[in-house]
Amino acid sequence: MALDERKGVWKSGKGKGRRTPKGRQLDEQAWDEVRTLLGDQPRRRDLLIEFLHLIQDSYGCLSAAHLRALAEEMRLSQAEVYEVASFYAHFDVVKEGEAPPPALTIRVCDSLSCELAGAQALQKALEDGLDASAVRVVRAPCMGRCDTAPVLELGHNHIDHATPKKVEDAIARGETSAHIMEYQKLTDYSSSGGYDALKALRADGDWEAVQNKVLESGLRGLGGAGFPSGKKWGFVRANAGPRYLAVNGDEGEPGTFKDRYYLERTPHLFLEGMLIAAWAVEAETCFIYMRDEYPAVLEILRREIKALETAGIVEEGYIDLRRGAGAYICGEESAMIESIEGKRGIPRHRPPFVAQVGVFDRPTLVHNVETLHWVARVCREGPEVLNTTEKNGRVGLRSYSVSGRVTKPGVYLLPAGSTIMDVIEAAGGMAEGHVFKAYQPGGPSSGLLPASINDVPLDFDTLQPLGSFIGSAAVVVLSDKDSAKAAALNMLRFFEDESCGQCTPCRVGCEKAVKLMQAETWDQGLLEEVCTAMADASICGLGQAAPNPIRMVMKHFSDEV
Ligand SMILES: Cc1cc2nc3c(=O)[nH]c(=O)nc-3n(C[C@H](O)[C@H](O)[C@H](O)COP(=O)(O)O)c2cc1C
Ligand code: SF4
Ligand code: FES
Repeated sequence: MALDERKGVWKSGKGKGRRTPKGRQLDEQAWDEVRTLLGDQPRRRDLLIEFLHLIQDSYGCLSAAHLRALAEEMRLSQAEVYEVASFYAHFDVVKEGEAPPPALTIRVCDSLSCELAGAQALQKALEDGLDASAVRVVRAPCMGRCDTAPVLELGHNHIDHATPKKVEDAIARGETSAHIMEYQKLTDYSSSGGYDALKALRADGDWEAVQNKVLESGLRGLGGAGFPSGKKWGFVRANAGPRYLAVNGDEGEPGTFKDRYYLERTPHLFLEGMLIAAWAVEAETCFIYMRDEYPAVLEILRREIKALETAGIVEEGYIDLRRGAGAYICGEESAMIESIEGKRGIPRHRPPFVAQVGVFDRPTLVHNVETLHWVARVCREGPEVLNTTEKNGRVGLRSYSVSGRVTKPGVYLLPAGSTIMDVIEAAGGMAEGHVFKAYQPGGPSSGLLPASINDVPLDFDTLQPLGSFIGSAAVVVLSDKDSAKAAALNMLRFFEDESCGQCTPCRVGCEKAVKLMQAETWDQGLLEEVCTAMADASICGLGQAAPNPIRMVMKHFSDEV
């Protein structure tokens, strides 16, 4: 229906009528543009974020006219579209009369490893040296490339060990797309027995036998919580179908880059593991929620999912790849599910748990990328691939993402009983001129431990007595040249930025903590009060764990605060 044929809203009384509905009016041209972009895709609510990406990618921002048109096209209120668009950092909402952002955006990572490597000075040099009307320089949280800090993203081109000169050269050459490195393709994977395990299970497998194998291997969730993987399958199966599987590829915990490491090298190990888990719980669809900060991984997955469809290993559409939009909280599984449904990433209250009420309110198995990588290896190589390694009384293997003041930052697959000394040794020892002072054992949520605590295995359950936990095994090493106080402030700034704002203890607590932590001398009594409120009353793990860096710095580095 053309605009002028549409009925308006009338009030009774002569001369009081309005010809149009209240609020922002629909712009015909913007509406046409949106319809062209969406093509014949179904106007499903859960695709809202995908559609916002289409507009942002094509027009460089989300104008008010396009948002209005998208709301019209999807039969949603403008408020619903606006609240989603404005929740995610990678969307630029531009109202009438506002200038759109420049054509090129540089995101400079300012999380801990990059800050240690000089991110602040880098950002300043870029802001001073570049034409602000052509290039916008903004800060951004960890991009999962902490081993090559400092890092920035120019368009979608990540520049490792970034310098202003490298940026200028890349701009001059027009290099703004992601680099795809060599990886194992479907043909190579299949020729070495890949997908044989899946095919055999689909033919006459017993899911409980596979579950037992996974339990026997000792595999636990590698997204951070460490829940025994096989057990979860049983919980999901206990609920009537249809069921779904949702892969957590958000990898936003600063210092973590193990999922990216595996996906950029052996994507099919992960994909086969995912399809085995999906077979075990009889999932109707596999959603893969991949962070927008990993454009190369997104492209690899697009290609290899297509290859799987062409090879007849999965039906078209069985794997539904979803692109995040720059929100750490979407790594929390219920927030991820909200985001898959096209909404703001706001954690849900539990119970019910996602195994019972997940995507579209159906029972959902959520797994981290690396967990599924190991599911495939356990099925292909047997539980021994994990359960025959023993060290310091601990069993299994752990992929440590190591960065900071070590000689060779990177991902190291080591016994799960490794101590920080083993991890530093694997990473080539301390960087030249640096003396070991402190370490973050598993992301900022795990806080900061002093070098004197160097004989504890960095595994699930071992760090809790120290007020910490292994989380995603994101180890950042600090030296005598670094300040523990500054590191804790960096971590709290991250939580402040990434808090979804749903609950007061976290939203206000993070903000207050950041203010208090900027003082020369910390008001430790007040900070402890804030920490208690956050830990006791926050809804999700972000607010509950955010006090860890504060408390651990007060305890172990009291001379600095
Ligand atoms: C604030 C917060 C952020 C999280 N971020 C991630 C993440 O980026 N990736 C991930 O796999 N799990 C993350 N988790 C853990 C997930 O909620 C969930 O436990 C996990 O995806 C389950 O998979 P797993 O059992 O295979 O580990 C996060 C949890 C919280 C509380
Ligand atoms: S703890 Fe923080 S991130 Fe979690 S729900 Fe509350 S406000 Fe949101
Ligand atoms: S990429 Fe900068 S801290 Fe991770």
